[in-house]
Amino acid sequence: MKNKSISIVAICLLFLVIGIKAQKAIYLDSTKPIEERVKDALSKMTLEEKIAMCHAQSKFSSKGVPRLGIPEVWTDDGPHGIREEVFWDEWKGAGWTNDSCTAFPALTCLAATFNPEMALLFGQSIGEEARYRNKAVLLGPGVNIYRTPMNGRNFEYMGEDPYLSSRMVVPYIHGVQQNGVAACVKHFALNNQEEKRMTIDVLVSDRALHEIYLPAFKAAVEEGKVWSIMGSYNQFRGEHCCHNDLLLNKILKGDWKFDGVVISDWGGVHNSDQAVNNGLDLEMGTSTDGLTSKGKLAYSDYYLANPYLDGLKSGKYEMKTLDDKVSRILRMIFRTTMSANRPFGRFVSPEHSDAALQIAEQGIVLLKNEKQLLPLSPCNYKKIVVIGENATKSLTIGGGSSSLKVAYEVSPLEGLEKRYGKENIVYSQGYASGPSNYGKEIKPNINTDSLQNVAIETAKNADVVIFIGGLNKNKNQDCEGGDRISFNLPFNQDQLIQEILKVNKNMVLVLASGNAVAMPWIKDVPAIVQSWYLGSESGNAIAAVLSGDVNPSGKLPFSFPVKLEDNAAMSFGEISYPGDGTKQEYKEDILVGYRWFDTKKIAPLFAFGHGLSYTTFSFGKAKTDKTSYSKSDSVKLSFEIKNSGKVRGAEVAQIYISDVKSTVLRPLKELKAFSKVFLEPGESKLIEISLPIKDWAFYNEKTQSWDFEQGKFTIMIGASSGDVRQKLNVMVE
Ligand code: BGC
Repeated sequence: MKNKSISIVAICLLFLVIGIKAQKAIYLDSTKPIEERVKDALSKMTLEEKIAMCHAQSKFSSKGVPRLGIPEVWTDDGPHGIREEVFWDEWKGAGWTNDSCTAFPALTCLAATFNPEMALLFGQSIGEEARYRNKAVLLGPGVNIYRTPMNGRNFEYMGEDPYLSSRMVVPYIHGVQQNGVAACVKHFALNNQEEKRMTIDVLVSDRALHEIYLPAFKAAVEEGKVWSIMGSYNQFRGEHCCHNDLLLNKILKGDWKFDGVVISDWGGVHNSDQAVNNGLDLEMGTSTDGLTSKGKLAYSDYYLANPYLDGLKSGKYEMKTLDDKVSRILRMIFRTTMSANRPFGRFVSPEHSDAALQIAEQGIVLLKNEKQLLPLSPCNYKKIVVIGENATKSLTIGGGSSSLKVAYEVSPLEGLEKRYGKENIVYSQGYASGPSNYGKEIKPNINTDSLQNVAIETAKNADVVIFIGGLNKNKNQDCEGGDRISFNLPFNQDQLIQEILKVNKNMVLVLASGNAVAMPWIKDVPAIVQSWYLGSESGNAIAAVLSGDVNPSGKLPFSFPVKLEDNAAMSFGEISYPGDGTKQEYKEDILVGYRWFDTKKIAPLFAFGHGLSYTTFSFGKAKTDKTSYSKSDSVKLSFEIKNSGKVRGAEVAQIYISDVKSTVLRPLKELKAFSKVFLEPGESKLIEISLPIKDWAFYNEKTQSWDFEQGKFTIMIGASSGDVRQKLNVMVE
């Protein structure tokens, strides 16, 4: 009897053990709250395993915990398409045959759509491509503010206005993260030039920091709920931004309550003490390039690798700081690769081509259109001469880390030939820039004089000349690692354009660039189109807009100055841009972009928000629900927009405010809302916009908080910052 009960107890115990064994560990159980999973995983990890998660193990990845089945973190650029696979420890393409992606338009083009729905579509589509390629983190989008047209990376960002970039970055992040892929908003912060980017120390006021340079990052964190952020290479007030206490600990993690991972820019870390204590979580790099030495076990020499381990062992660093870093990385893994709800993504699908095309078509900006030269109806033009290297050069390659290996790219020439008929088009290159190259310009191996002569000769008898030029993502032509060296178009294009105009005035100029350029020929060119870098569908989008199949509706996300010195940052000399070699001062302070042009009464060549259409729009009389508001109110603004022309089109109503009387300097105009509306000919729509008064505050440096002064505010409604159609006054009590 005794033996029988012993065996029953033994059997029960066995079942219990089996039961316990079969029960999933909490961290593996996706039905459990993420914070419980994080705590559980952390409790199971050794010190070495934790450290291993905080630094790179290859160019684009960091370790998981193999013993526990926690996957590695694979990141990839970003922000316009998913970069090809590179070798473990080299930048060189690894030669995979399944990694040619869809190239979406550059972020300047996305910003120019002034359409948050396009940002969502962009994020969803690129997120699907990242997911399909098994990436946990997409290294983008970029939201550094367009401060000077010389910045080589402006094309990767969303322009000069903090409100516009905030409204566009949030849906982009939502779209990406719906795919179980973390967006990584970059470069935090003040990385507004490439010149001396690794070392330059930026000095900027608290006010400009909070009003101009941080809002898009703040929106990304607070509204976008972004899962990772990339520190920038430069310094801010004497500390590198990848380990900057004020930016990372106080503002990002403290004030904004960011619970994701701070990832360093590649080689942006310079000091273990600061990397440990000032808010960095994951150190990435370029082999040992980010350090000063080269060794066999480069990754274990990283600032957050062995030096961190040694410091923890000796008691120099606190364990809770490490646990916080690892918790953040685990949280990101549970949100992405270990999420049970992760969809499977898709790659180079027709839907992605369609998304790229839509974004491109909505982002192209018609800058000038004298005597309605555009659209060029295919019925009327049988002798079209296309001139310019950018008509055929791949513009998805180049630019640095955003360079893409694409499944396909329709060049502008191919797009035009398809739309107008090959037999109606003659192409002449006109100028040459040399092969695409990151590190230095390689001179073209061709006689450029004869190229120019042939182009001029060919232009003589054309019905119309379509000049397709601009910059091209080569070194110093909109490219990472260096700024532009001239505001003028390179490779003698200005002279070529002027020579062509002497023989044929019927010119449509299509400008591929992510930056404003000098336009010495502007008076003589009847039609100018800003076409950005449009990605895979480039040629189709350009042909659709030039032919009138699509009515352009893009608006400039930054101002074009007449001359370089008219730009705020450039007007203060070397100390403002590019700095004296070690530091620079943002002397224009809050007066960036149109805030400068308007307040200083300097006429831009093209104003922020400018963009023409093939139709016309009229704005009805605007009204507000009240005339006097408290600081916690929102103004309910309404007005009608009518398509008063003959073709379907879209207008972007832009709402700016002005604080009429203030004891601190306020810009003459600040964008506070916009609405893109699509209208059939003759159709009207009522636009209703809510303007929260709290968004009209300024950053008070004395109190270190957002502040108000009561009094009169003017609400301006217009079609660009330079085309205000109506003004209304309201009182804020
Ligand atoms: C760039 C980042 C990029 C990273 C990885 C860096 O040089 O600044 O934007 O994501 O390289 O390619």
